Amino acid sequence: MATILLIGPGAIGATLAAWLAQDDRHQVSVAARTPFDSIEVCTTEGVIHAKPRVFTQVAQVKPVDWVLVATKTYDSDAAAKWFDTACGPFTRVAIIQNGVEHLARFEKHFDPTRLVPVMIDLPADRLSPGKTIQRGAAHLVVPAGNNGADFAKLFAHTNFDLKQTDDFTTAVWRKLCLNSAGAVSAVLLKGARISHHEGVAGIMRSIVRECIAVGRAEGATLADTVPDEIVAGARRAPPDAENSMVADRRAGRPMEIDARNGVIVRLGAKHGIAAPVNALMVALLEAAQDT
Ligand SMILES: NC(=O)c1ccc[n+]([C@@H]2O[C@H](COP(=O)([O-])OP(=O)(O)OC[C@H]3O[C@@H](n4cnc5c(N)ncnc54)[C@H](OP(=O)(O)O)[C@@H]3O)[C@@H](O)[C@H]2O)c1
Repeated sequence: MATILLIGPGAIGATLAAWLAQDDRHQVSVAARTPFDSIEVCTTEGVIHAKPRVFTQVAQVKPVDWVLVATKTYDSDAAAKWFDTACGPFTRVAIIQNGVEHLARFEKHFDPTRLVPVMIDLPADRLSPGKTIQRGAAHLVVPAGNNGADFAKLFAHTNFDLKQTDDFTTAVWRKLCLNSAGAVSAVLLKGARISHHEGVAGIMRSIVRECIAVGRAEGATLADTVPDEIVAGARRAPPDAENSMVADRRAGRPMEIDARNGVIVRLGAKHGIAAPVNALMVALLEAAQDT
């Protein structure tokens, strides 16, 4: 049995909270910015419901065994304010976000030995507060070790694919290769079909090649074939499939520009590796978002 507080019950967070709540041994609550009464997740195999306690004030929360953070990366500092009341001496905090800087974002707020970075591959959208649609299977990767193993146990009753790895750096950089290429869709506001345009496919490959160069400098093992694999994957996807940066831009929400492309430019500069195509994407998306 575990007490769990999920911070950020959006597409990923509400979906995970609902799955966790299906295990009666867990006591699941959520820390929300926008309140709701219950969670409903439409999966490919049916609808699941959950009625966790929903907190909107930091003072309402008591220490739990596990805090799961599933906000967007740019809301990380605000999410960490919940730690003041949710974290006791034995609490562990799982960071379930995109990007490669899970620990860097949170180690200023919490004991790094009790932080668990999580790579998640779970296609989900939020329809309204508390309502999400899960479009496919869930794959999660955590670092090998006690924290990763205990995190995996929380999902033992689900059909989630949960892997532990000795090379988490490669896992998150491989995911970043995919996410960084999605910037082109967000600039054009078009779905996966744009990958069939040869010029666009060339830009996607350039973005990913820069990501590979910086990822390797950071210690990731990434094959030269990754750019072609990503373009091929986009071409196999439904033509209208859109990534979350496109969804965020359409909805007028901030995009995770820095976590998905800016980071390649920033960390590239640290290693003396230029990333001009990612810098171009950052400039265009920031201008689209801010002006
Ligand atoms: N969606 C996917 O398919 C997917 C797949 C893989 C990885 N990811 C990654 O997973 C992370 C979460 O993405 P998402 O799509 O689930 O985002 P999302 O739908 O935008 O959900 C984020 C949630 O966090 C809430 N929030 C923001 N600040 C908060 C705070 N201070 N306290 C409590 N709640 C707060 C938001 O509240 P409001 O309701 O008020 O906005 C929202 O409900 C991102 O890093 C994303 O890149 C997403």
